[in-house]
Amino acid sequence: MTTIEREFTAAVVTVSDRGFSGEREDGSGDLLEELLVEAGAGTVARVVVPDERQQIADALRKLCREDRVDLVITTGGTGLVPRDVTPEATRDVIDREAPGIAEAIRAQSMKITPRAMLSRSVSGVCGESLIINFPGSPKACAESFAVVRSVLGHALELLGGAGGECAR
Ligand code: MTE
Repeated sequence: MTTIEREFTAAVVTVSDRGFSGEREDGSGDLLEELLVEAGAGTVARVVVPDERQQIADALRKLCREDRVDLVITTGGTGLVPRDVTPEATRDVIDREAPGIAEAIRAQSMKITPRAMLSRSVSGVCGESLIINFPGSPKACAESFAVVRSVLGHALELLGGAGGECAR
């Protein structure tokens, strides 16, 4: 797989009560960092937050508005458990939703497992950053990354202000 032409900055936000308290290793975060570097990310910031809407939103806001990271991938907290609030926190910070990304992840993932329909993940733009929610397991992260990998370059190009090249 070729790397994305323009070097970009990325962050992985792991949303997990057990990860935050140190009870669980951040295998999904490690995997996503690896995949992002392989895709051409120059830096990958790592943040672990508990399943708390405000803390998730604060972390996302800082990464997008202050650190101006190009791409933020969250992992975890997208399901139906009452404490799963990553989509709500993401909606709190995004300016515009990019529903096609989450739709594609769900549609492609459902070819692998019908349980993919249980993820409420969303994606959208915050300032000039793209935020994408992934489910929490390393398996789901690998499968979700494989879905978005091919469009990341163009998505980041568009967010960086490049326009009118979509006909290629
Ligand atoms: N998507 C993919 N690609 N692969 C998976 O194994 N697991 C599903 C779903 N999406 C899964 C997936 C399951 S079992 C759940 S409960 C939801 O994601 C939500 O996961 P989360 O609460 O860890 O975010």
